[in-house]
Amino acid sequence: MSSEEEAKLPPHVLIFPLPIQGHLNPMLNLAQLFCLSEFHVTFIVSDFIHRRLLNHTTVPETFARYPGFQFRTVSDGLSDDHPRAGQKALDMFSSVPDVMGPLFKKMMIHEDFFASASRRRVTCIVADGVLSFAGDFAEENGIPLVYFRTSSGCSFWTYFCITELLQAHEIPFVGNGMDQLIKSVPGMEGFLRGRDLPSFCRVNNPNDLLLHNLNDVTRQTVRAHATILNTFEDLEGKIASQIRKHIPRLYTIGPLHAHLKSRDTEKTILSGSFWAEDRNCINWLNGQPLKSVIYVSFGSITVVTREQLLEFWHGLVNSGQRFLWVIRPDSIMGKDGENHNIPVELTEGTKKRGYLVGWAPQAEVLNHQAIGGFLTHSGWNSTLESILAGVPMICWPYCADQMVNSRFVSEVWNIGLDMKDTCDKLIIENAIKEVMEVRKNEFLERVEDMAKLAKMAVGEGGSSYCNLDDLIEYIKSFII
Ligand code: UDX
Repeated sequence: MSSEEEAKLPPHVLIFPLPIQGHLNPMLNLAQLFCLSEFHVTFIVSDFIHRRLLNHTTVPETFARYPGFQFRTVSDGLSDDHPRAGQKALDMFSSVPDVMGPLFKKMMIHEDFFASASRRRVTCIVADGVLSFAGDFAEENGIPLVYFRTSSGCSFWTYFCITELLQAHEIPFVGNGMDQLIKSVPGMEGFLRGRDLPSFCRVNNPNDLLLHNLNDVTRQTVRAHATILNTFEDLEGKIASQIRKHIPRLYTIGPLHAHLKSRDTEKTILSGSFWAEDRNCINWLNGQPLKSVIYVSFGSITVVTREQLLEFWHGLVNSGQRFLWVIRPDSIMGKDGENHNIPVELTEGTKKRGYLVGWAPQAEVLNHQAIGGFLTHSGWNSTLESILAGVPMICWPYCADQMVNSRFVSEVWNIGLDMKDTCDKLIIENAIKEVMEVRKNEFLERVEDMAKLAKMAVGEGGSSYCNLDDLIEYIKSFII
């Protein structure tokens, strides 16, 4: 291709998420937004996920509209039958850098950074912030690097402060206790307790390897040309300004799934679900009164024991509320580490006022007028989806960033309750009654205000809308 021809070609962005649902969703949304700006996009996924996307999603159909989009697949280093939930999901933290990393580098070189007759070599890498090997490759090859941290600003900031937390002996908590207020995370003094730090901080040994790995992975973010957060200024502006002291070029462009509505009128909902969505629940919801149903879902990785499942069930039934409950096929774990089926008494006993599904069209469910509350594990996508839909939350965080998110839901944004570290039918029953009846109006008012702010942020002229435009211009500047 002549240099004049090449000069006419758009930027070519490589997008590389950690291959799990909660990281893939926002990065697929970003890919679509880049495509709408007529960028060329090469999207890296594990072959395992790619097969699931082909089977269950609107992703192939959506991206068929963009000739500049292509997938490339690499093994994530785990066998197909390896469980990718609960503790077992953590195996990805070693298999991805050890196996996927070298395969990715080899493929980049072998395919000449994906150059072809109609596309440039990759001009910018947008890598998941936890994939430091992708950053290494970008640096070694002089490719501009943008990191995307897919979790909340507040959790990213707590990870960022691990060094200070260790230096101040605030972790490990031994001797301090889980309820001791934390002082070494600027901006969170006064409400953040030990138990609200990311679950990986719950260690006994200050030299814990995983904790130090997470610290290193977080700190290396500063080397990128820019960092993206899927959040918005009215929600996390104060935290974003703390982060900007270390990462001045920080783009807050969320909620990404809402952005598409402002920019793409043709097709707005992009579903990248790894499981088939059971749409019958929408018919069931259609028959329920306004804001009468509590939606229960713990995301794509959480597992529960049979005992915990039954506590939730009793709590839900005893609350007297209607409920729609997602129980993933791989989510009930016995002490033996084996998967268990849903207990028969639960399926039978639910029929009166509840509805069970294996996987739901969550964003659509949350926006349904029958939904009045969300019992959630506080994954960041779920939290943003709930805020955007104006649905108050009851948080039962399971791991990682979810501990911080749930504290912000209850203490900072005041849009729900935090039930972390308990799993008791009476507490569950009371929390449901509180959110669905006793404090219903109070929570609804605040979350509906927040929903308006979220919509304004992604609407024309809003902070996320403008920041996304700035990011797009910045990425274009790499080829000038
Ligand atoms: C993971 C981490 O666990 C989470 O803490 C982190 O913030 C992001 O990565 P996950 O646990 O799956 O994600 O939670 P979450 O971030 O909430 O993402 C789940 C996604 O799956 C959401 O977009 C949600 O809409 C979708 N989902 C969930 C469905 O589409 N249907 C369902 O039935 C359940």
